[in-house]
Amino acid sequence: MFLKNYWYVGAYGHEVGRTLLARTIVSEKIVFYRTEDGTPVAMENRCCHRRAPLSRGQLVGDDVECGYHGLTFDPSGACVRVPGQKKIPERARVRTYPVVERWRFIWIWMGDPALADPSLIPDHLYRYNEDPDWTAVTGYLHLKAHYQLLVDNLMDLSHETYLHMKTIGTVHVAETPLTKVERDDDGVTVTRWMLDRPPPPIYDKSGGFSERGETVDRWQIIRFEPPSHCCLDVGVATAGSGAPEGDRSKGISMRSLNALTPETEGSTHYFWTFPRDYKLDDGDTSDLHAKGFHNTFMEDVVMLEAQQEIIELDRGTPTVDINADGSTIPVRRLIQSLLDAEGAAKDPSRAAAE
Ligand code: FES
Ligand SMILES: [Fe+2]
Repeated sequence: MFLKNYWYVGAYGHEVGRTLLARTIVSEKIVFYRTEDGTPVAMENRCCHRRAPLSRGQLVGDDVECGYHGLTFDPSGACVRVPGQKKIPERARVRTYPVVERWRFIWIWMGDPALADPSLIPDHLYRYNEDPDWTAVTGYLHLKAHYQLLVDNLMDLSHETYLHMKTIGTVHVAETPLTKVERDDDGVTVTRWMLDRPPPPIYDKSGGFSERGETVDRWQIIRFEPPSHCCLDVGVATAGSGAPEGDRSKGISMRSLNALTPETEGSTHYFWTFPRDYKLDDGDTSDLHAKGFHNTFMEDVVMLEAQQEIIELDRGTPTVDINADGSTIPVRRLIQSLLDAEGAAKDPSRAAAE
């Protein structure tokens, strides 16, 4: 079960062009393309004639011609041509989905089109992807695991100490309890401060802290917003320079913006970007980040896919919660309450009975 009345990241803008891109999103088959004037289109990837995938057809101007018997659909999904006959059957059309291009992504609305308000796209989370004061490296991973395993992973960074010791992990992450967990109307925020610690390698290379004999105050502020956005504000500043009180002038920071789009109940599209506010024009830092974070996230992918395999074989054996789950449990509860609410919205008789 997935939340539907939300904007999901369907693709990077650069992936969608004048060829047909097939992608499954929340278990629905979609085909993306652009019209001749560059407008992105998302269409059901299933011909209404005999269910051939339209992505195996071709673009004819702004329309999609099915590769099986030639029915042709315009960008609104209406059938405009049936070979060998003049009359087009009334029900000959395919579903199209609202789309918006913003912050390097093609956003797709998977629910009721009448509710697809572009102002609901979480600009405050993703604007860093195109902010001139920031520069971003980007990536995509396909994960053979349920998206909530990846949400858990990003909300609970205590795993850095064990899974990512070679890159971003230090022993202090798992050993430092969460500073606070806040839930509001729009999501959940989890904060962890680690004060007066040695700088982790990836920050030290850029910030030169240990060269100056400095320790750092390190922060991890993780924001979850539905349906499945996990956006991290992370960084370090010279210890004692006032970062916990809001002065980050002696520090460097990054955003780790993670748009997790469910593909199926057992797989996820993982769109990640890493904007930073330092060394903006430095290609070496960008290369270091692109490779470093890809490798780090691959460590997560391997673990999560192995977890998914066990979950699929499991017969409901109970699991045990620990303090670190203070960051994951509120998010799971929020998702469940929103799923319940969407279920109630679909069936008003059920809402009335409860
Ligand atoms: S299946 Fe598409 S035209 Fe027949
Ligand atoms: Fe990780």
